[in-house]
Amino acid sequence: MSVRYIDSKKTFLLQTRNSAYQMKISEYGYLLHLYYGERLEDEDLGYLIQMQDRGFSPNPNEAGNDRTFSLDVLPQEFSSDGSCDYRLSSIEVKNGDGSYAFVGKVVRHEIYAGKYTLAGLPSLRPSGQDTVDTLEIWLQDEATQLTAVLSYCVFEEKDVITRTVRVVNQSPETIYLNRLMSMTMDFMDSDYDFIHLDGRHTMEREFHRDPLHYGIQTIGSFRGASSHQHNPFAVLCEHQANEDYGRCYGFSFVYSGNFVCKVEKDQYDQMRIIMGIHPKHFSYQLKPGESFAAPEVVLAYSGKGLTHLTHLYHNIYRNNLCQSPYVKEARPILINSWEAAYFDFDEKKILDIAREAVDMGVEMLVLDDGWFGNRNDDSAALGDWDVNTEKLPRGLTGLSEEIHAMGLKFGLWIEPEMVSENSELYRRHPDWCLQMPRRQPSRGRYQLVLDLSRSDVRDYIVTSINEVLDSTKIEYVKWDMNRFITDAWSIIAEKEKQGEIYHRYILGLYDIMDRIILTHPEILFCGCSGGGGRFDPGMLYYQPQIWCSDNTDAVCRLKIQYGTTFVYPVSALESHVSVCPNHQTGRTVPIKTRGIAAMDGILGYELDSTCLTKAEKEICREQIGRYRKYYALITEGDYYRLTNPYEFAEYVAWEHVSQDKKEALLSLVLTERESNDAQRYVKAKGLIPQMHYRVEGMEGTFSGQLLMSAGLPVPSSLLQYEAVQYEIRAV
Ligand code: GLA
Repeated sequence: MSVRYIDSKKTFLLQTRNSAYQMKISEYGYLLHLYYGERLEDEDLGYLIQMQDRGFSPNPNEAGNDRTFSLDVLPQEFSSDGSCDYRLSSIEVKNGDGSYAFVGKVVRHEIYAGKYTLAGLPSLRPSGQDTVDTLEIWLQDEATQLTAVLSYCVFEEKDVITRTVRVVNQSPETIYLNRLMSMTMDFMDSDYDFIHLDGRHTMEREFHRDPLHYGIQTIGSFRGASSHQHNPFAVLCEHQANEDYGRCYGFSFVYSGNFVCKVEKDQYDQMRIIMGIHPKHFSYQLKPGESFAAPEVVLAYSGKGLTHLTHLYHNIYRNNLCQSPYVKEARPILINSWEAAYFDFDEKKILDIAREAVDMGVEMLVLDDGWFGNRNDDSAALGDWDVNTEKLPRGLTGLSEEIHAMGLKFGLWIEPEMVSENSELYRRHPDWCLQMPRRQPSRGRYQLVLDLSRSDVRDYIVTSINEVLDSTKIEYVKWDMNRFITDAWSIIAEKEKQGEIYHRYILGLYDIMDRIILTHPEILFCGCSGGGGRFDPGMLYYQPQIWCSDNTDAVCRLKIQYGTTFVYPVSALESHVSVCPNHQTGRTVPIKTRGIAAMDGILGYELDSTCLTKAEKEICREQIGRYRKYYALITEGDYYRLTNPYEFAEYVAWEHVSQDKKEALLSLVLTERESNDAQRYVKAKGLIPQMHYRVEGMEGTFSGQLLMSAGLPVPSSLLQYEAVQYEIRAV
């Protein structure tokens, strides 16, 4: 079994293929963290805990005169609150007597084969061949009987451990849970860098790496969604770590709402990281007998650099997260109407775009925003999911039939969570949106947010959206969310429960996705929130791909994709070729480069195909052919970032390598060109050193070693923003 309890030493051992995790029950029943890192066998790491009398770090009462036992210093699995630990806390509760304290001690544990369940929340699922074991440890507060159940699930072969916490109110009083972190991890050292992915609308998931400093470093969101601004993912790695070397720890939160991740470097150069639902405006009422389950965190450890950490996440997210049968199938290459026509289209325009696209080799037409109600701009009609017959006189069915007659699939845009004030829905149910008493709700893109904590609102959404999806043949849906939450107050909740609304919104969202997405397994769903405002594992559980960004500039996308690939598999990144000058940046980049950049994901087009020249269409046709040829390699191969665009400006390069390492696709975009430039070389990765390979466009063969050590010359003929792509194939 990958989980064991050694009674004589009171230690818990968790082992994956290459990592180990160890905990110990201390003499007074506290659960101490001993180790997470390179796989060890049965060695007992209890000796790592060195007791010392630390001034001004208090000692729990049961330690008597032992001044060396302080929870302010000891490494813990789940830190107490309101007692002796002044560091970041795992939990904050307001007890029935008004006190703010939780001090948990181990009262029991259970080890079983298989995985715990998390009702109503997305989480990893064991797939066919996985050996998966679970450890659950009950920490109880003697004074209040409140219990925190820590769950660990070990995916042995996948080299990943998941964690979550459930709080059960076994006390006779109502308590308020004001914070519950899904994961707390203490380290006895702190010479680490903190890597996080941050940005803004149209420039998401930029890579940031900061050395830890004394005090607390924080990322998070309380926008009601995981957000463009920070992603629920973090890495702690040694200062020396790079793509190929060094100890790296990954933390990925399977949740789509408010989150926080904090790292604290303490007075003794130790480090604590916590991750969970953001405590801001969070207060969960637990009556006697009630419980609360925190979302899951996925932990991965790599002793050999960031690329291997990436491979662990890509592998488990490809195989154990997405429900959609599409996750393993070739996704249709689509053309989307948004940047082609925005709101200004009619049936003829859409059919013209489709007809030209057929000629390019495109496989699906996606009708974006503007097809319903009186939606001629973004100020109206959200919530009214009836077709706009002025634009589409034969309805969705007429359009869909024509599109299918051309041999294309048909996809549709929806934004189910929102309502426009100028809509029939709002006029009928003005109380269905989130709003606070005595205040007018704030608008975002003119729209308000529906109160998904209400079951009647959810039922309306499920019925009206399912009616659309069942009304005609639709093979793809883009599920958008174009503003963040404000006014988080629900008219149906008691005042003591208003602190639950942000979380209940997300539970409501998962419920409607269960009832719309999971009941339509034949439809490919794509997530979107103004591009990548909700690019997180929670959404990927339902939707195998997410629109990366509203920024379609190929050069900006190189940075966005660079950051995104640290954790999310290439098969999750929807990426489109659009026109130049680019609508967001005004930049002009050759169409070949736009194609190569978009092939680092799920390729699509977002342009008016009727305006392309013959030559451009020919290039697109060729791009689509190449993409189809390398589809499995791109979406299932191992991913290598060959350059860091934040450290090296001249070119950006990346590579997809097949699992057997016999085939690779190396792509490179020249991002900075000066006159009479130095000769540059690009070094491949992931090949078999002794194997010989042919490189597309080059004479002879090259050993894997040579391609990885000496590399290939970057063609000096490349001009700024031009790109090359090499197939590398074993002979
Ligand atoms: C969001 C999406 C875009 C497009 C518009 C439509 O901004 O990210 O791709 O669908 O909404 O309103």
